[in-house]
Amino acid sequence: MKINIAFDVYGTLIDTQGVLDLLTDLVGNQAQIFSDTWRSKQLEYSFRRGLMQRYVHFSVCTKDALNFTCDSLKVSLTETQKQQLLDSYSFLPAFSDVETALPKLAQKYRLIAFSNGESNSVHGLLNNANISDYFSEVVTADEINTFKPDPQIYQHLLNRIDSQAKDTWLISSNPFDVIGAKSFGLHAAWLKRSPAAVFDPWGIEPDIEIGQLEELLHNLE
Ligand code: 2OP
Repeated sequence: MKINIAFDVYGTLIDTQGVLDLLTDLVGNQAQIFSDTWRSKQLEYSFRRGLMQRYVHFSVCTKDALNFTCDSLKVSLTETQKQQLLDSYSFLPAFSDVETALPKLAQKYRLIAFSNGESNSVHGLLNNANISDYFSEVVTADEINTFKPDPQIYQHLLNRIDSQAKDTWLISSNPFDVIGAKSFGLHAAWLKRSPAAVFDPWGIEPDIEIGQLEELLHNLE
């Protein structure tokens, strides 16, 4: 039986820093801190929503986090500028190793896109980045109205692909996702997208750490 590889999307396949050019136009030298604050608040809002059982689409977390970031950094953007930023979230680029690695990985493994984003957004992103054909399934949080790292969503992944944990890997640059998947019982690889990235010191470690997706070709057996 083929091994299943479930890829996290935002930050793993798709580069959320892709909004930086537009942010530089809009907020100048605050672009990097704006982008970092926006991303971390977006994730925090999804975690809190999940815990409180007050699910909304990930795009709502993204929008609320954008408003928080403007308030927190005292940046005043018009509604049109905010909409431009939110629209740019649908056209984020894939990381440079993605396009070369996915065709090779797809010959050997069954690939799944697995995201906290909602189905429409994730399908759109993968299509815009020209990588949707490599995935046999797209599994998203809005199918069960909760977010990673809730264990229920890792179980939902297995249900949707009709597979067992022992045959399934999660690949993510997000330590919260790797730890969530390991805690549930999947195999997991941490993709260290930046040299400065730090893995949470919880004592729950990834099975492997990689720097490029192609390393998966020789590491999952
Ligand atoms: C995902 O795509 C939010 O990175 C996270 O699930």
